[in-house]
Amino acid sequence: MKFNDLDLKNWKDTDICVDSLQIYPNRDKSGKHKNIYHGNFIPQIPNQLIRRYTKSGECVFEPFMGSGTTLFECENLNRKYMGFDINQNIINYVKSSMQSSKFSDYFIAKCNSMDLDSVNQNFISQDINSVQFVLMHPPYMDIVKFTDDQNDLSQCSDINEFMAKFKIVCVNSLKFLDKNRYFAVVIGDVYKNSEVLPLGFYCMDMIKQNFKVKLKGIVVKNIEGNRGKLGSGGIWTYRALNSDYYIFKHEYILVFKKEF
Ligand SMILES: C[S@@+](CC[C@H](N)C(=O)[O-])C[C@H]1O[C@@H](n2cnc3c(N)ncnc32)[C@H](O)[C@@H]1O
Repeated sequence: MKFNDLDLKNWKDTDICVDSLQIYPNRDKSGKHKNIYHGNFIPQIPNQLIRRYTKSGECVFEPFMGSGTTLFECENLNRKYMGFDINQNIINYVKSSMQSSKFSDYFIAKCNSMDLDSVNQNFISQDINSVQFVLMHPPYMDIVKFTDDQNDLSQCSDINEFMAKFKIVCVNSLKFLDKNRYFAVVIGDVYKNSEVLPLGFYCMDMIKQNFKVKLKGIVVKNIEGNRGKLGSGGIWTYRALNSDYYIFKHEYILVFKKEF
């Protein structure tokens, strides 16, 4: 089954990165991409995934929309888009960013993605039965608190609570993904109680244990120009050397194929 529009006649000219280690020199700040939301991802992530795993006109769903990075890429790449977030302020921001846009094939709403009734209602309201790609970029537990809402996954400081809630979002989201299509989870590890808590590996394991899926890729990505996380030469290098830990520079893009 063809699941993208890539022209393999010119495969040598492709800018689609198929390496499991992806290092981006800097963030794409073109168009609507403003980098105003702490905890957003670089536009190159949705751009690459959308072009690799969907065809023009197909629908991308995000249960953790954030500041609209994926929506703006769907607009650029002519894909339909559904996005939910629990944070009304960021919904308002994304709505205002789209006000002057001619692109209308999208729907965004304040919605707790753990609440199946609300998720269903939103899909019904748009007459959408299925999507062709799901992109999930959950909070990395409580390292950035997005809202005070108890249903916000960034309120979870306990790994078991986080995994239970993330599993509910996966159930609610993957039910709308067509069989044999793909989804990706973008996630980073966290540091808690003086040790690394490998959140990415927990998420990967939870998905493999609970859903009939094939794991297609564990991509490690880093942005070289990410000053907030830059290690070399900065004060964080001194702090790490003065202690016993390593500085997180990477995140994971876990790619799965749904087989149910
Ligand atoms: C890591 S951010 C996503 C950032 C996004 N990829 C971007 O580029 O801006 C995670 C988002 O999940 C939202 N969120 C947390 N719990 C949620 C829930 N239960 N339902 C819907 N959204 C939720 C937060 O408000 C936050 O905006």
